[in-house]
Amino acid sequence: MIVFPGNDLGGPETTRLALASPRPGGDLPKVLGVQAAPCFDGCGGAEVANLNTSLLLEHATGVYLHPGLTGHRIAQDPEGIQAGRSWSPRFLVEGQPEQTDNSLTIKARDEDAQLALETRVEAMAGGSLRIRHTLRNLGADSFLLEGLEVRLPLDDQQTQILDFAGRHERERSPQRHDLVDGAWVREFRWGRTGFEGPVVMVGIPGFNFYHGRVLCVQPAWSGNTVLRVDRNSATPAGVSAGELLLPGEVVLSQGQEYSTPWIVATASDHGMDPIMNSLHAWERTLPEHPREQPVILNVWEAIGFKHDFDTLRDLADRAARIGVERLVLDDGWFHLRRDDTAGLGDWWVDPAVWPQGLKPLANYVHKLGMQFGLWFEPEMINPNSDAFRDHPEWVMRASSRNPELQRNQLVLDLTNPQAFNHVLEAMTKVLESCQIDYVKWDHNRDLLEAGSQVHGGAPAIHEQTLAYYRLLDTLRARFPKVEWESCASGGGRIDLGVIEKIRRFWNSDMTDALSRQLIQRWTEQTVAPEYIGAHISQPSSQQTGRTYSLDFRAATAVFGSMGIEWDIRQASEKDLERLKEWITWYKANRGFLHSGRVVRLDLADPSVLAHGVVAPDRSRAILAHVQLDESLHNRGVYLRIPGLDPKARYRLVWTGPAKPRASLEHLDPTGPLGTAEVTGTYLERVGIRIPRCQPETIRLIDLVRV
Ligand code: GLA
Repeated sequence: MIVFPGNDLGGPETTRLALASPRPGGDLPKVLGVQAAPCFDGCGGAEVANLNTSLLLEHATGVYLHPGLTGHRIAQDPEGIQAGRSWSPRFLVEGQPEQTDNSLTIKARDEDAQLALETRVEAMAGGSLRIRHTLRNLGADSFLLEGLEVRLPLDDQQTQILDFAGRHERERSPQRHDLVDGAWVREFRWGRTGFEGPVVMVGIPGFNFYHGRVLCVQPAWSGNTVLRVDRNSATPAGVSAGELLLPGEVVLSQGQEYSTPWIVATASDHGMDPIMNSLHAWERTLPEHPREQPVILNVWEAIGFKHDFDTLRDLADRAARIGVERLVLDDGWFHLRRDDTAGLGDWWVDPAVWPQGLKPLANYVHKLGMQFGLWFEPEMINPNSDAFRDHPEWVMRASSRNPELQRNQLVLDLTNPQAFNHVLEAMTKVLESCQIDYVKWDHNRDLLEAGSQVHGGAPAIHEQTLAYYRLLDTLRARFPKVEWESCASGGGRIDLGVIEKIRRFWNSDMTDALSRQLIQRWTEQTVAPEYIGAHISQPSSQQTGRTYSLDFRAATAVFGSMGIEWDIRQASEKDLERLKEWITWYKANRGFLHSGRVVRLDLADPSVLAHGVVAPDRSRAILAHVQLDESLHNRGVYLRIPGLDPKARYRLVWTGPAKPRASLEHLDPTGPLGTAEVTGTYLERVGIRIPRCQPETIRLIDLVRV
């Protein structure tokens, strides 16, 4: 048996993969389990008898579920074109697996089918594993690949699925289902990551933030993906994950190969929070990881498409005065773009609005000591644009008919080198025209009938996704100082693929703080809070019309990458003063908030949320008690904080500019206003009692080890 990785590599939990030892010339090794360490310790190398499958489901081995590899070979023989060859390979292992401390590679081939498979497993910093298959065509005839998925087994008690529903302005809402015989399949066909995933967790029923054995699987990819959890009477349940390929997207001629995206697997014995923290730990090792996120003012909700220098100067002055560090000019600065019906594709500054280009504004912002950011939507084109009028062949479409418009726009075919170069060079010119420190890279429609006219309308989402990565990488290389944000109508392109290339995600176009509490909570399942753009909106939300206090809005934003999305010309002097206090608090605490272990507490009262951050050395924690709505009772809640130093004593104080109401004082001598010091064990087992509070209010508590 191989247990990979053999040692814990640090991180909240280490995910381990146990495989039967591969035998040269034998079948692909069976997977005995994917579990959190210390599982598989003490097996003594026993080859556990099992019914399980390999990392690739093979029909030929007697598995009657959706196969891991689907596709076939097209052969030309004297009787004409013959489809359906090599459709049921059975791979046999070649040689010994190659294993290092953090990687394992197994090679296999099927001589009959003339296909070779390489499976690579890597241990990620933080404890997760990532796995990918690479398929190579050894035969002379083309192999039409329909799908290639990595399979990870579940144990027989892991029978509850948690994944996400989601839409524009309501990204990533959890939903649970029980696993039954048959298939649960999630296809993400949007052509971009989507508002709801791609992520699935499967665990013992009722698993929660801190309880239950759970396996989380997610493809690190920004195009189409598929997740399936299935079982039948003969084959135990498992999760399969891969890229969702459209007809003809991957055709391998002799010697060509295709690799799946990395499939990231994270196991936990203690619910979803350790999974989340494993991923955050990995993200914090990435070269692009943002160590310190500046406070942003994004002017989208303040001015929309109405750009003029005087307004922006006024906003910039006020922003600088309250401590904002970066001003972002959103949609509306380029050719024809006075509303959302025109201009996409014409990436040059519109002299009608900006007669001297963007330089005067960029310079003004820099003189105030702030950075300057700019919005682009590079993969899109409006029919009302010079780009479209000159090059209708640059639009993605499957036939002679253009796809239906979404937000008045079509998708630019980046797989067409001319279209690619047009955007690349146009963006380059703008980025060279003045000092631009940050780009908000948007993507505001799904890919419908996304064929490439270069190839007669053949589907091209796979190639478009690669072209997007290439365009972003080329621009990153040309402008190494620019910081890039991934946005897609809000949080439609948040995934473990693009995260290696960017510094920030725009998490949602929903800036209503109450909704944001939930969206942020579940985005954090995959993404560390410092990546999550969280902006303070105007008092009455533009999306919901609900009105909240500034303290509620600000205390929601400070946990993420804080910003403002509000016409602060309308803010009173008192509000500006308070904003400044929150910004000051954020600056003093962001280093802590963005380096610690995130905790989300399991509470009995659905009207209350609690979450926070614990320092890696457990010397401090900051917690938020969020009263979302009216509680149905007066019993209050107990905040039990896991993972503090059990024997150490902690002192609790309120923190943040907002002072809790007087009625909260003196309620609990061990609570934030009492003087008693309590141990980590007490805080984990008994917890701090917080009474019922007014809806739409937040209290921040600082726990300091004494
Ligand atoms: C998308 C983004 C918004 C804003 C608009 C501009 O909806 O998510 O933040 O940039 O586009 O058109």
